[in-house]
Amino acid sequence: MRLLITGGAGFIGSNYIRYILSAHPDYEIINLDKLTYAGNLENLSDCENADGYSFIKGDICERGILDGLEFDAIIHFAAESHVDRSILDAQPFLQTNVAGTVNLLEEARKRNCIFLHVSTDEVYGSIDQGFFYENSPLQPNSPYAASKASSDLMVRAYVKTHNIKGMITRCSNNYGPLQFPEKIIPLVILNAIKRKPIPVYGDGMNVRDWIYVVDHCRAVDAVLHKGEAGEIYNVGSKNELTNSDLVKLILSKTAEKLDCDKNELLSLITFVEDRKGHDRRYAIDPAKLQEKTGWKPEMEFEDGISATVDWYIANKQWWERIVSGDYLNYYNTQYAERLK
Ligand code: NAD
Ligand code: TYD
Repeated sequence: MRLLITGGAGFIGSNYIRYILSAHPDYEIINLDKLTYAGNLENLSDCENADGYSFIKGDICERGILDGLEFDAIIHFAAESHVDRSILDAQPFLQTNVAGTVNLLEEARKRNCIFLHVSTDEVYGSIDQGFFYENSPLQPNSPYAASKASSDLMVRAYVKTHNIKGMITRCSNNYGPLQFPEKIIPLVILNAIKRKPIPVYGDGMNVRDWIYVVDHCRAVDAVLHKGEAGEIYNVGSKNELTNSDLVKLILSKTAEKLDCDKNELLSLITFVEDRKGHDRRYAIDPAKLQEKTGWKPEMEFEDGISATVDWYIANKQWWERIVSGDYLNYYNTQYAERLK
């Protein structure tokens, strides 16, 4: 197959490209990425000379950006992805996540190719008990989630109106190597290494369902090959933790690896003002995907966290560059201070 992958220089996209190159070495991959603050070609330094791989720097919002390119499927990861940034300024989220997706849907319509839209469980909003299913109502609460829900609805509209081969995956919170350190798990690891305060929002009792990034990549691959046009698939591990328990687990693993006193790291935990509109709990049921494709998550959570902590300890150069001048200039929000 020939795949056009958008956002392949980001966290999940770069893990996905690495996964595809090893699972399907005969596939051709075109990676289209604008290289925003979150995109980094270093994430793919071991892939850049692989047979069949090519990179194009470009914006998914630009009309004609795919002219002259041939492929069988668009795997659409590119997005503005951080809730906190969407609270500060929703415009880039509207532009990339909604207008950019529509621009790509037009390309899929012209070419009659597969369009696999990588979405999020955050479109369903917060749930106190039980699980969200693929037919649960969309009740997004953050501008990020609302922009992703809007793009999901545009995919649906193109399936219904233009009969495109569109599919949507809605995954829970990912973690693993190469995640930009604005997100909670890498932020906790880096701040522990640097002995900086670790900001926990509100009472720390918000719940997230964590999945290892490679398990998500395997799910996207399963949907690409075995999914049905017009269908939506939840992707999750049923692995719920409060932020408070998550942070404590990461800190105890990090203390083990750094061979330091666990209590020294635990004392860095600092409860700070809550995020506006902070969703209390995300929980989805991935049974449909499992039944349709046979996919199931493989990584045990403690092993995944251990591998992730190891990766950040071993890749100091990677994150030191991210928290230095260039990235911070681009990032340019009050959150940039935290990354230093
Ligand atoms: P990320 O922020 O790490 O990467 C986003 C990538 O998209 C970057 O490489 C960036 O340069 C690129 N990009 C942004 N705007 C672009 C544009 N206009 N044109 C071309 N490229 C552009 O995000 P991520 O965490 O890897 O998430 C990837 C996708 O998965 C997103 O669609 C996100 O909504 C979805 N998702 C993420 C999670 C998670 O926990 N991270 C969970 C479920 C779904
Ligand atoms: P995050 O990694 O931003 O992912 P999302 O908002 O998409 O779930 O946040 C995960 C959880 O961690 C969420 O409940 C907010 C919380 N959080 C903190 O407590 N402190 C932080 O500094 C950050 C970035 C997040």
